[in-house]
Amino acid sequence: MAIRRIMLYGQDDILMKISKPVDEINDKILNILYDMIETMNEADGVGLAAPQVGLLKRICIVKDEKGEILKLINPIIIEKKGNQNGYEGCLSVPQKRGKVKRANIVVIKAQDENGIWREIVGKKIVARAFEHEIDHLDGKLFVDMVTKWSDR
Ligand code: NI
Repeated sequence: MAIRRIMLYGQDDILMKISKPVDEINDKILNILYDMIETMNEADGVGLAAPQVGLLKRICIVKDEKGEILKLINPIIIEKKGNQNGYEGCLSVPQKRGKVKRANIVVIKAQDENGIWREIVGKKIVARAFEHEIDHLDGKLFVDMVTKWSDR
């Protein structure tokens, strides 16, 4: 495993590109996944998407409310309910936090590291992370959705 360089907003254009589906979960993909986990933990983040480490693959990870890391391959949002308005940040946009409106409950479908499709219900902070990370796979960054920036 290795810690990878995190791409930065305003510097690495790959963050604006659309990621490609993963068609085979092989050792190369698993290595990327484990490197992403190590990189996120090192940076003390709660979510990370493959384009943030320079790879246009539909892979992301999200730390859930229990501190467990959800490994999401080819994630798709299948349902959104309600609204929440709160602050979020991104490892690719260091030192910045901004208020973004998100769904309060986000149901996704994704493959795990064994290729099994699972449905996961994310609430509150996890729902926010699901939307934020899946946006990364479509080249979208939270900075374009901020209604108010935080001073801290
Ligand atoms: Ni992010």
